[in-house]
Amino acid sequence: MTSASSRGYALGASDAERARLIVQHDIYRGEAASLAEHIGLRPGSHAVDVGCGPLGVLDLLTELVGSSGRVVGLDSEPRMLDMARTTLAERSITGVELVCDDLLDDDLDAESFDVVHERFLITNLPYPRDVVSSMTRLAKPGGYVALEDIDCISWTCHPPHPSWGRLSAALLTAWYAAGLDAYVGRKLPGLLREAGLVDVGLDAHVNVWRPGDPYQKTLPHFVREFRERILRLSDLTEQEFDRCLHELEAHLDQPTTFTLYNTLIQAWGRKPE
Ligand SMILES: C[S@@+](CC[C@H](N)C(=O)[O-])C[C@H]1O[C@@H](n2cnc3c(N)ncnc32)[C@H](O)[C@@H]1O
Repeated sequence: MTSASSRGYALGASDAERARLIVQHDIYRGEAASLAEHIGLRPGSHAVDVGCGPLGVLDLLTELVGSSGRVVGLDSEPRMLDMARTTLAERSITGVELVCDDLLDDDLDAESFDVVHERFLITNLPYPRDVVSSMTRLAKPGGYVALEDIDCISWTCHPPHPSWGRLSAALLTAWYAAGLDAYVGRKLPGLLREAGLVDVGLDAHVNVWRPGDPYQKTLPHFVREFRERILRLSDLTEQEFDRCLHELEAHLDQPTTFTLYNTLIQAWGRKPE
């Protein structure tokens, strides 16, 4: 099996990426809470958030499982876990076990969790089936595997702008070259069924952002993180890249410009008893 950590997390662990992930946690807290309701997460449950990053859904899990439950945050990137330690301390969240390990080759006991959750991990790795099968290994019989990932179908800005078109096309090409599927969200229910899970459920959410909202400028953020790869793979020169980025940011600052964000797809399935 390919090692994820040997290939690296495509978006890295820069300060900007870590800051984005903390904002993301706050943006998607409501959606994560509704997913927890779908799978009936309750006090006393044992839950793991795989690829938890600097917070993931660790605070929500801790709140819902209570003091009689168990919450583990697993991530292969030590810098992300350092950040998680800081974030948990800042928010006075105690009792979370943080484990630095590669999900695809981890040392956690098989069948030890009632809920195995990931958010935006599959989106960022080129082997979704391996992720879901590793998660399924960790679930108890009767336990749930819960996935939250993106589908790019809705991602656009209005009014349209040529720099959005050029940069988003260049970014998708760089993602595909890294083996990543920007439309993986719609495939989640099928992945769960393939892994042998039953009672598969599905939900979807789309956000709209305006100037000043933290995710209004996610395309420029991703494009900067992928700059070198984009310059290598697209026909954009360095000068054109910088000009497009500048024009796009100015457009996204216009009071009437809004962005429709990636669709968040949530899918969950139960491991047969
Ligand atoms: C996009 S971030 C998502 C963080 C968090 N789940 C959230 O929703 O904010 C993906 C995280 O997965 C971690 N990761 C990537 N590959 C991994 C692997 N094979 N095993 C465990 N964690 C991994 C990265 O280090 C990163 O922290």
